[in-house]
Amino acid sequence: MFSGNNLIKRDQAIVITMKKEPLSNHHNNQPPSVIGHRGVAGYAPENTIASIKKAYELKIRWVELDVKLSRDGIPILFHDNRLERTTNGCGKIAHQDLLNLQHLDAGSWFKPEYKHTTIPTLRCALSALKFYEIGANLELKPSPGEESKTGTIVGKVIKKAWPSELPPPIISSFSSLALQAYAAEAPSAQNALLNLAVPRNWREQLDRLNIMTLHCQSQRLRQNRAKDILNSGYTLRCFTVNRADRAVQLLNWGVHGIISDYPDRITKRLSKNNIDAPS
Ligand code: G3P
Ligand code: MG
Repeated sequence: MFSGNNLIKRDQAIVITMKKEPLSNHHNNQPPSVIGHRGVAGYAPENTIASIKKAYELKIRWVELDVKLSRDGIPILFHDNRLERTTNGCGKIAHQDLLNLQHLDAGSWFKPEYKHTTIPTLRCALSALKFYEIGANLELKPSPGEESKTGTIVGKVIKKAWPSELPPPIISSFSSLALQAYAAEAPSAQNALLNLAVPRNWREQLDRLNIMTLHCQSQRLRQNRAKDILNSGYTLRCFTVNRADRAVQLLNWGVHGIISDYPDRITKRLSKNNIDAPS
């Protein structure tokens, strides 16, 4: 009989048998201006090891990944509260133990060739990030009612197992409860509050959480608001930016980074325009 721990060990073994070419080191601990979304969700099934590997192949140096808990409290990479959209399972993630979740097909919905892709544990994802030398923005994506628990458990895992070779992760969330619980467990200078539209009281919200970074939805950001945030010394990134023109515009406003399903398209445009040199 497999236990959750055995499954995690098995996944880690899969990661360390992968082959890769050496990529240049991270020159500093700062994320580049272009970050892949859910791995690189435009090219491989989101939030999977395949998506991290694809980021490496595209020479993308940082990815955003969503993290939530299985019923038995194991952090896994997954976006939705329910299984239907991205797996062959059904029901709520929070109602399934890791053992059941890891038997699901989390790739066929994207393309048939990904049919053997599974839902990875966070620990397995950390091994892949270390192997491919990719930095990460981990978004705490708690199932309803599990906000603090998710922050606490992910904090414990990151404190214990974050690869020292990688730059420290950015931890972000729409949930201030999850961010507070994470910060109590694993203090970090790189936490970020997520908002769809930036609220009028954005400064108050960030100051209350003692954080300096806001991630907001690109479509709803206006230049005046961006200026206000940036001139006040806060860090601002936008999601999900798939049009190169918009990425160029945001970066010209001074936005520090954008998160994209097609980050390679953006980096290509940026190097063509000589706007930025993502590391
Ligand atoms: O972290 C940025 C972005 O991923 C937030 O939205 O729904 O894609 O997780 P979502
Ligand atoms: Mg996300």
